[in-house]
Amino acid sequence: MVLLKNYISLRDQAEIVRICHILGVGPGGLQRPGYSTGHKLQLHRTCFGRNWNQETKCQERYNRDGSIPPLVPPELVSLIVTSVQDARSHVNSHDELPLMSPDTALVNFYTATGRLGLHQDRDESPYSIRRGLPVVSFSIGDTSEFLFGHSRDEDKLKNVLLESGDILIFGGRSRLIFHGVRTIFPNSAPPSLLQKLKLKPGRLNLTFRQF
Ligand code: SIN
Ligand code: MN
Repeated sequence: MVLLKNYISLRDQAEIVRICHILGVGPGGLQRPGYSTGHKLQLHRTCFGRNWNQETKCQERYNRDGSIPPLVPPELVSLIVTSVQDARSHVNSHDELPLMSPDTALVNFYTATGRLGLHQDRDESPYSIRRGLPVVSFSIGDTSEFLFGHSRDEDKLKNVLLESGDILIFGGRSRLIFHGVRTIFPNSAPPSLLQKLKLKPGRLNLTFRQF
């Protein structure tokens, strides 16, 4: 697991927000995922590449409204791939952090009350999971407290702050870590950033994977 601090330039952050604005209001756009019990997650979400069905934990070809999710934006692919290449200089051997070719993503938007329970990302293809192809996570806007650990054991969880511009990469032996978002710190995004980003108060997170 590698955290690249302040890796995404302000310009690129603004571009990512712009893309998410456009795609987030389109078919299959941002909505609060939930369960048939009526329980809803504390965030809004849209998907690229494949639709993530919260209830069945399946990555589907179609959104719930029947539309096809947009591709992972081609403008972002080189940033994702380069970040993994750069992260490799922080691990002992390249085998510990395989390269990946992003074709699916979750886009989450959290307001001040947003959070995400502890879970594993394990619903990509058996090949992707077996090889430990990394999840690449972009954070933009307000800071969050991110929890992670090798088990659900609350006492053994670690935490790290994810700030605007950070990229967190977990692959190889860390591919199946349990993780979640405990807190969003309201108004923690630098004001200059907000002006430039046209992001409403909150935190945008994109997690890219290879299905
Ligand atoms: C996720 O695990 O889907 C998102 C994590 C985050 O928001 O940092
Ligand atoms: Mn996740």
